[in-house]
Amino acid sequence: MSVLAIDAGTTGVTALVVTEDGQIESRGYEEFRQHFPSPGWVEHNPEDIWQATLSACSAALGGASGSPTCVGLATQRETAVLWDRRTLAAPCRAIVWQDRRTTGICDQLRKGGHEPRVSELTGLRLDPYFTATKLTWLAEHEPGVWEGVETGNVAVGTVDSYLVARLTGGALHVTDPSNASRTLLYGLASGEWEPELCELFGVPQHALPEIGPNYGPIGRTAPSAFMGLELPISGMAGDQQAALFGQICFDVGDVKCTYGTGSFVLANLGGEIVRSESGLLTTVAWQTPSGERTFALEGSIFVTGAAVQWLRDGLCMIGTAAESESLARTVPDSGGVVFVPALTGLGAPHWEPEARGLITGITRGTTRAHLARATLEAIAFEVRDVVEAMTSGAVPVLKADGGASANDLLMQLQADQIGAAVERPALEETTALGAAFLAGLGSGVWASQAELRRTWQLERRFEPGPRDDDAYDRWRAAVELAGRPSS
Ligand code: G3P
Repeated sequence: MSVLAIDAGTTGVTALVVTEDGQIESRGYEEFRQHFPSPGWVEHNPEDIWQATLSACSAALGGASGSPTCVGLATQRETAVLWDRRTLAAPCRAIVWQDRRTTGICDQLRKGGHEPRVSELTGLRLDPYFTATKLTWLAEHEPGVWEGVETGNVAVGTVDSYLVARLTGGALHVTDPSNASRTLLYGLASGEWEPELCELFGVPQHALPEIGPNYGPIGRTAPSAFMGLELPISGMAGDQQAALFGQICFDVGDVKCTYGTGSFVLANLGGEIVRSESGLLTTVAWQTPSGERTFALEGSIFVTGAAVQWLRDGLCMIGTAAESESLARTVPDSGGVVFVPALTGLGAPHWEPEARGLITGITRGTTRAHLARATLEAIAFEVRDVVEAMTSGAVPVLKADGGASANDLLMQLQADQIGAAVERPALEETTALGAAFLAGLGSGVWASQAELRRTWQLERRFEPGPRDDDAYDRWRAAVELAGRPSS
């Protein structure tokens, strides 16, 4: 038996065929275009995401020995997608989670005194990151499209619900609690869409998807839509929660960090809704078919790997992201240079949507190697800020995954900075693996979480060494400055 796992991320779609022993039999990957129509705006064409999904799945299935038992789906979260219920065509581009255009809407709501109630209900905060204000913006700026939402012809959702609609040929309009809990419309305690929030953000509840569990019978792919295949869809989750599951963080206090474009640190809270006083979010990790929910504390950092991409594409300082490591290793430290990569504002734990990137401490002796080193240090510092906010300083171990977790220097800096071991699993594509595990649990490929635990394999453990606290103090001072871009 095997599972087809789809990880539809922010820049591309990965598809894996995962075998019963948790190994990857075959894979496919397809990037799709990013649109930046104005400063701070980020959009995707939903059709591009679907086409990338088809081609990644076709490549993965082409390399597999047999037909998979089921399909599991993990997706980028928060991104607002609209589509015509009948044709499945999107009447406008999706507004991506990184998009900052609704900062003003958030400010207005905050001035109106709404933030405490919104946070109480959702575990989130008023920030352009989340879905609801993107929908408020669409209602105002795309009245023709929004009329379809009001009349019921146009469906509203996130990337997970859009892809399930496409996979099932339009038969289903569903989401899951891990994705729903990122919209600002879902009640953390009630486990349902909150009418009060739908009214506040102007979103008609009838336009939203039905909320199902994270695994179990969700639906079936329509052969006419999905390469002639009729497969059960039996697992779905937001990508960061899927990674938590794929890292086998099943116990309370287990923590993982996925290093991608941004980095997302999630800690398992078990069945208790714990609220953070230090700028972290409370979110649903997953829900069983019988309705039992596990929650997570999350620190969402918007720009980490994207800072390395900026060195490559913006400054043309390196040819590949991997070169950042070899270049940074040519110097013992950053020579006093600090880079705050607040390129799309600052997320957790600072939440400064207007913050902008900053480089301090440049001297005549500064070289590109120092800047490369400062970039890797910045990622480690950002994650340390979140880990400290999460645990008041102590994590037993941090499980690392995602593209940049392949960078040994970064992993060592990370262990030094948090003063705890960092463990890297043998399989780096933990997000897709999590989607596979959920779907496999939902259709009987695996019988229990205990069985899944046996599939996790350690590749390397980085033990903490001495850390440079002066550098961290310089970082904290620079973050303060970045948060005040006009001063
Ligand atoms: O919250 C945003 C997150 O889901 C995006 O993850 O891996 O697509 O950058 P990724």
